[in-house]
Amino acid sequence: MPVSVLGKPNDRPEGRAKVTGRAAYTADRTAPRLAHACGIMSPIAAGEIVSIDTSAADAAPGVLAVYHPDRRPPLFRVPEGVSVGERRPPLEDRRIHYAGQFVAAVVAETFEQARWATHLVKIRYRAAAPVVSLDAGEAAHGAKPKGDDTSRGDPEPAFTDAAVQVDATYSTPVEVHCNMEMHAALARWEGDRLLIDDSTQYVSGHAEALAYFLGIGQEKISVRSHFVGGGFGSKLFVWPHAVLAAAAARELGRPVKIVLDRRSQFTSAGHRPHTRQRVRLGADRDGRLVSVRHDSLSHTSLVQDYVESCAQVTPSLYACAHVATTHRIVPVNVGTPTPMRGPGEVPGLFAVESALDELAIALSLDPLELRLRNIPDRDEAKDLPWSINTMAECLRLAADRFGWAGRNPDVGSMRDGDIVLGWGLAAASWSASRDEAKVRAELRADGTLRLTSGTQDPGTGTYAVISQVGAEISGLPPAQIEVAIGENSMPVGPISGGSMATASLVPAVAEATRKAIKQLIKVATKTEGPWKDQDPDTLRVQGDQLLAADGRALGAWRDVLRQAQLALVAGDAHTEPGDEREKFSFRSWGAHCAEIRWDPGLAKVTVSRVVSVLDTGRIINHKTASNQVYGSLVMGLGMALLEHSVYDPRSGAVVTDNLADYLVPVHTDVPEMDVTLLDRPDPHIGEFGARGIGEIGLTGIAAAIANAVHHATGKRIRDLPITIERLLA
Ligand code: MOS
Repeated sequence: MPVSVLGKPNDRPEGRAKVTGRAAYTADRTAPRLAHACGIMSPIAAGEIVSIDTSAADAAPGVLAVYHPDRRPPLFRVPEGVSVGERRPPLEDRRIHYAGQFVAAVVAETFEQARWATHLVKIRYRAAAPVVSLDAGEAAHGAKPKGDDTSRGDPEPAFTDAAVQVDATYSTPVEVHCNMEMHAALARWEGDRLLIDDSTQYVSGHAEALAYFLGIGQEKISVRSHFVGGGFGSKLFVWPHAVLAAAAARELGRPVKIVLDRRSQFTSAGHRPHTRQRVRLGADRDGRLVSVRHDSLSHTSLVQDYVESCAQVTPSLYACAHVATTHRIVPVNVGTPTPMRGPGEVPGLFAVESALDELAIALSLDPLELRLRNIPDRDEAKDLPWSINTMAECLRLAADRFGWAGRNPDVGSMRDGDIVLGWGLAAASWSASRDEAKVRAELRADGTLRLTSGTQDPGTGTYAVISQVGAEISGLPPAQIEVAIGENSMPVGPISGGSMATASLVPAVAEATRKAIKQLIKVATKTEGPWKDQDPDTLRVQGDQLLAADGRALGAWRDVLRQAQLALVAGDAHTEPGDEREKFSFRSWGAHCAEIRWDPGLAKVTVSRVVSVLDTGRIINHKTASNQVYGSLVMGLGMALLEHSVYDPRSGAVVTDNLADYLVPVHTDVPEMDVTLLDRPDPHIGEFGARGIGEIGLTGIAAAIANAVHHATGKRIRDLPITIERLLA
């Protein structure tokens, strides 16, 4: 057998195109007679438009149209149940629900003309008092249940009777995805067909919502997104700017491009909502959990219900007979929240893994030992055995690599000169979903393999993963494999969300490649040459060669196609999860240890070391997989110490609407990161046993850092981010 290429740290097939600027992202695209749109966003967060005067803008050079609620292109609402940023079409009426809402859009010959003319549109508003905080929202509108409350056993008396209790409330602020590539769309019509370039995490699902907005058949919409410069959830669904571009292009009969500016990302294309979570843990003297309650409150917008499912994983994470969870949402005057990397679990595990640290201290028990004593044998929430649960292994290995055994648990006891060291630990976990996927494999007369699927690569490594599985099955080198993704005309591929693209694609790529090889062999046995009349079951393809049963090379397989006068043979696969989903519970597992350095003289916290061990099943490409984890850890450092959107309570405007005020980690903030991937194939998820890796690295890391901060400073910061003000309070 040839050596396996699975796991090898191959370069990204599209890497060269990206670093040489040849990769066309949506904003790079152009079209003949292209017009440019610029939005006007509401500066107020509540109230209504009183008047709109477009006369100066209409007369400005190059202006083709000014759209607003009194002069809007025909658009419709999207029905309930369809995933979309906002069900209302843009410019629906004069009411204002949040700052950053589209109130008008100018289309002009050039971007500069469109942008200039936005300043000439005179809009008068009648502002109402906005409600932007969770407290104010709860007082004004109340909190309503969203999603199912869960309960098992009798958590309340079990808590009351518990030997040791923790009852604490944690909060996480609004965070914004901050993709490097801005949201953008370029729409053009050919007759009644819409061709749209849109930076999206879901080319195969995008047309559905657009069809509802535009009132046309879904099959009339072609979506393309060959390269996506980061999504993190903000590009899962259609947002108003893409709808406006499509509608304006239809009205004007010419292509229209719109690129959101950085500021608009903070208001108009989703965010992780503000959460407040009460966690109550009860344990016996030995540190076994006897009661777990997790009540989560998060905000949504006034135009759409979105719930951040912070407590969703809680009933599965640790063994406990008495567990209850609730989710409530509060509408406020902000744009609609949307999933952001690790939605639910990321804020949820900040709370739960912080509370466990508090419990460990109350028990005088090592936080590692506390977790190890509560690892569940099975998924107690779903009442199913685990496909695999390696949390204990991840915790032990992370602790070993970090040197956890050398930790002195006393607060402030570990020093490096004037600097106080803090060591913290937390578990990580993320669901391991898998969706159906279609892939087409073609072996071509030029000796190459082409793999096609209507999925996309938001920087996660999907091109590399598809190429690598094709290489594994065919034996071809990466240079001989072309991966074509990013169009909805291709066989329907998975969403790049929920960390499920890899798990979904791997079995489909393998099957499609095998089917194409089988086709080729069938052709060979009927084609003149040394392969003619051979038993097809004995022939194999290895690299560019067709091999006989004894391993002897019969010749290059491309000569079979040439001889048969075929340009290509193809194999089509459509794979989907089977009944294993009813037999097992699938999750990924991990653990983080973090070291922080606390300088009491400067009131400064820096993260100096992170050790992470993750089990996401079989690793297909170590380079792109660990890249996902490094990115997650940097994001987690930002979540712990820096990131938060600040709203002005008077106007409801986002104050931190730029990357100078909304802080994300830069190189100097990033510590040494020691990442280990267990690389253990999941026994049940599908061929090769790969689970997703995009999100798990961000779960738990903020808690590990907060726990380390407590260890150094004695301050339990329950509200992120951990700012100097909070440390000095
Ligand atoms: Mo992810 S938040 O599902 O892009």
